Amino acid sequence: MDKIVSLAKRRGFVFQSSEIYGGLNGCWDYGPLGVEMLNNLKQSWWRAMTFRDDVEGLDASILMHPRVWEASGHVANFTDPMVDCKECKSRYRVDVLLEETSVKKKKEILRALEPEAFAGQLQDQKVIDEFALRIAADETAAAIIQNHMTCPNCGAKQAFTAARQFNLMFKTFVGPVEDTNNVVFLRPETAQGIFVNFLNVQNASRQKIPFGIAQIGKAFRNEINTKNFLFRTREFEQMEMQYFVKPGEEDKYFEYWREQRMAWFISLGMKPEWLQWHKHDKLAHYAKAAFDIEYKFPFGWGEIEGIHSRTNFDLSQHEEFSGKSMRYFDDQTKEKFIPFVIETSAGASRSFMAFLTAAYSEEMAPTGSGGEEQRVVLRLHPSLAPMKAAVLPLVNRDGMDDIGRKLTNDLQKSFRVFYDDSGAVGRRYRRQDEIGTPYCFTIDSQTLVDQTVTVRERDTMQQERIALDAVKTYLAERIL
Ligand code: GAP
Repeated sequence: MDKIVSLAKRRGFVFQSSEIYGGLNGCWDYGPLGVEMLNNLKQSWWRAMTFRDDVEGLDASILMHPRVWEASGHVANFTDPMVDCKECKSRYRVDVLLEETSVKKKKEILRALEPEAFAGQLQDQKVIDEFALRIAADETAAAIIQNHMTCPNCGAKQAFTAARQFNLMFKTFVGPVEDTNNVVFLRPETAQGIFVNFLNVQNASRQKIPFGIAQIGKAFRNEINTKNFLFRTREFEQMEMQYFVKPGEEDKYFEYWREQRMAWFISLGMKPEWLQWHKHDKLAHYAKAAFDIEYKFPFGWGEIEGIHSRTNFDLSQHEEFSGKSMRYFDDQTKEKFIPFVIETSAGASRSFMAFLTAAYSEEMAPTGSGGEEQRVVLRLHPSLAPMKAAVLPLVNRDGMDDIGRKLTNDLQKSFRVFYDDSGAVGRRYRRQDEIGTPYCFTIDSQTLVDQTVTVRERDTMQQERIALDAVKTYLAERIL
């Protein structure tokens, strides 16, 4: 991970947000190459999901009517436990408090909470940490914390209040008056924008069930634990699709979308063995089935996308809370009903990190002088790569630079292409390998004679000569 985070910063994929002020936890900025790659990823998802007859696109606003989040259950249930110090009024989330406390204290707490488990397995720091996080969601953990913990800020003993639920939604206000009547939330998922627009989209597009609505957009969660780079952040992007089906047909479409979504990751270069399904045994009360696609990150398996069979819960809730019908009229059977929903919910930022991690590779490669050196190469799928090609005149004179510039200008009408005329050509190849550029076109003295260029492929490092005027087609065939 450290190597990837450092490459991401050095080469301009991802920067810490507000870095010069010490950063802001859980927020990251995408640099010049990062924004290209993220856009490519989102475009690939958009093409796969909406370039078909039965899925429409949507871009709903981030701020929505606050009743939306009451109807969806987020106001009541999207919470984590939190305690206050009665002496100094500092506020802590139970998970964080437990996580940051000493091993000795953790053992004391865990022994009090679950003596059997402690005796059996809690020997090392990692297991203790995981266990601490797990029990933090438990009601009884609060009492233990009250009795055993010292306030890290003022040192007061047994001064914590009972745990209260802390909502993960960010609040803000609409209009000039900051009072409770004007509270709105930054959406914690894009899905609700789709649900509330279900009939608008259906009427406007004259879709018939089954059909879906897809959306890409920012989501915000005041997460407790923002570790692991882009994995869990407070501001992130989701790529979600709700597929509306006739009740009774949900199992068939659930399986269909599971297959489609796994195939999408593999089509972009993920090896099947780096991905696995995680079946949810404990389901939300409204869910019929839920599976996550997990990727093997350097820190362990982590969810990158959830596929959920959500019954008609959300639409029914919105019908009840808004008083407006959310029913679909089937003009063949003349029936009116609330459709069931299959949801596919991927994190754009989290998938970005998975693809970046999967692409990173270090290997020994031959140098021009017969030796070997280490090269870092991002084996990104060409459609995700931020730069599609580099144009490299061997020397910056004799007309090679003019040909290179002309070729670059021509290619830039269709692709992101990088022109580089500085340093030894081997060094220039390495710089492109490190950012995942799939093809380098080199202009040399032979180009001046026969109008051909060398193409060098990133992964194999194989080179071949092709005609200068064939470069654009060559690239288009391999990139698009
Ligand atoms: N509408 C359903 C929903 O939002 P979720 O499992 O909470 O489901 C879906 O989130 C996806 O969004 C996850 O699989 C993950 O890729 C991404 N995601 C969720 N929370 C995130 C966070 N704090 N930071 C980055 N990505 C996150």
